[in-house]
Amino acid sequence: MSERRRLSWSMRFALMISGAFAGAAVLAGAIAYMLLSGELTDRLRQDVENMAGNLAYTLQNGGPQDLLEQIDAISANARDGSAVATFLDPQGQRIAGNFSPDHPFAGHRALRVGRDMTLVEVPNGVAPTDYFAYGLQTPRGWIITGRDADWVAENTEILSQGTAWGLGVALILSIMLAVFIARRNETRIERFEDALRAVGAGAHGMRIADDGHDDIGRLAGQVNRTLAQLEAGIDAIRQVSTDVAHDLRAPLARLRMRLEPHVLTDRTPPALRGDLGRALADLDGISATFDAILRLSRMQAGLVSPRVEAFDLVALVRDLAEMLAPTAEDAGHRFTVDLPPAAVVHGDRDLIAQAILNLADNAIGHCPAPSDIRLTVTAGVDRTRITLADTGPGIPEADRARVTDRFVRLNPSRGAQGAGLGLSLVAAILSLHDTALRLSDNSPGLRAEFDLK
Ligand SMILES: Nc1ncnc2c1ncn2[C@@H]1O[C@H](COP(=O)(O)OP(=O)(O)OP(=O)(O)O)[C@@H](O)[C@H]1O
Ligand SMILES: [Mg+2]
Repeated sequence: MSERRRLSWSMRFALMISGAFAGAAVLAGAIAYMLLSGELTDRLRQDVENMAGNLAYTLQNGGPQDLLEQIDAISANARDGSAVATFLDPQGQRIAGNFSPDHPFAGHRALRVGRDMTLVEVPNGVAPTDYFAYGLQTPRGWIITGRDADWVAENTEILSQGTAWGLGVALILSIMLAVFIARRNETRIERFEDALRAVGAGAHGMRIADDGHDDIGRLAGQVNRTLAQLEAGIDAIRQVSTDVAHDLRAPLARLRMRLEPHVLTDRTPPALRGDLGRALADLDGISATFDAILRLSRMQAGLVSPRVEAFDLVALVRDLAEMLAPTAEDAGHRFTVDLPPAAVVHGDRDLIAQAILNLADNAIGHCPAPSDIRLTVTAGVDRTRITLADTGPGIPEADRARVTDRFVRLNPSRGAQGAGLGLSLVAAILSLHDTALRLSDNSPGLRAEFDLK
C-alpha cells in the first residue's frame, strides 16, 4: 500500500466542489431573502396605503359614522395588533381607532411602539413592536393606518430556515457523494502506484487492474500496453545480453587457453613470456570488465532480484576484512575495522559483500600509500550504517554525483587501473536494497557510506 499523502487531488477537488456548491447556495439564499423581504415590504406598504384610501372613501361617501364603524371593524378583526387604524380630528386628537400616533402625518412612515405611537388596546399574544404606517389628511381630520412590520421578518425567517435546512441536507449529501467519488478515484490511482512500483522493483509482468470505461480506465489500458511493450523490450535485452556474453566469453576463454601454455613453458623466450603474461592479465581485465557490464546491465534492467535474507553484517564484514587487510597492507596502507558485536540486517549477502569490496578496492587503488583506510559498522535504532573512510585525495563535491555513472573515472591519467564501473555497481546494488550511497568529505579523503535495515 502506498503511504497516505496529506490530501489527494481527487479529495481536494471533491471538497472544492462541495465548497463552491455551498458558497453558491448561500449566495442564492441571500438573494432570495433580499428579493422576498423587499417584495413583502412593498406589499405591506401598498396594503396600508389601500386601507387608508378605503377609509377616506368611506368618510367622503358615507360620512363619519360609517368611517367609525369601519375602523371599529378593523380593530375587532385584528385583536393581535396586526392591523391598526385611527381617525384623528384636524388638531390631532384621536376620535376612534386602536392606536394613536404621537402626531399626525401624511404619507408612509415606520412607527415604533412606545417611541412614535401607543396602542390603545393591549393586543392578544405577542404585541408587535414596529409598524408600517400611512397617513392621509382629509378636511375632517387624519386617517392613519398601520400593519405589523414583524410580519415581514417572520415570513423571511421562515424562508431562511427552510433554505438553511434544505441547503444543509443538500450539502451533506453532496459532500458524501464527493468523498465517495474521491475515495473511489484514490483507490484506482493507488492501483496505478502499486503496479508501477512493483514493475519498477522488477515484477515486469505486473499490470494495473482497472477495467473502467472512463478516462482513468483508458489510461490504465494505455499504461498496461506500454508496460507490455517494455516487458518485451526487457526480454529482448535479456536475450541479447545473454547471447553477447556467451558469444564473447567463449572466444576470450579460447584465446586465454591458447596463450597460457606459452607463458608456462621454458621454450618461450623470457622477453616474450613477459609480454604474453601481460596480455593474459589484460585479457582477464577485459573479461572482468565484461562481467561487470553484464551484471550492471542486468541489475539496472531489473533482471536481478536480490535474495533478501537476515544476516549478521558484522560477521560478513569481519570475513571481508580478513581478505582485504593483506591486500591493503601489501599496497602500503593501514587498514582498520571498527565493529559492534553483531548487527543483523536484511539484504542479499553476496551483493552487499560485492558493494563493500568495490568501495574498499577504490580506497586501496585510488589512495597514494600510505593512507589510513577504516571500515566501520554502526548499529542504529532501526538501521545499520556501513562506512568506508580513507585519507586519500577524495572526490571533489562537483564530481560526487557523476562518479556513480557508468565508465566515469576521475583523473584516469593518474594511472590507477579500472573501468569506471565499481561505483555504478555499488549504486545499482544499493538501489535494489532501497538505499543509496552517500559520498562525503573525510577531510582529508573520501567517506563512503550507506544504511541497511
Ligand atoms: N576512495 C577514492 N578516493 C579517490 N577517488 C576515488 C575513490 N573511489 C573512487 N574514486 C574515483 O571515482 C572514479 C570511479 O570509481 P569506480 O569505482 O566507479 O571506477 P574505477 O575504480 O575507476 O574502476 P572499477 O571500479 O570499475 O575497476 C575512480 O576512477 C576514481 O577517480
Ligand atoms: Mg573502483
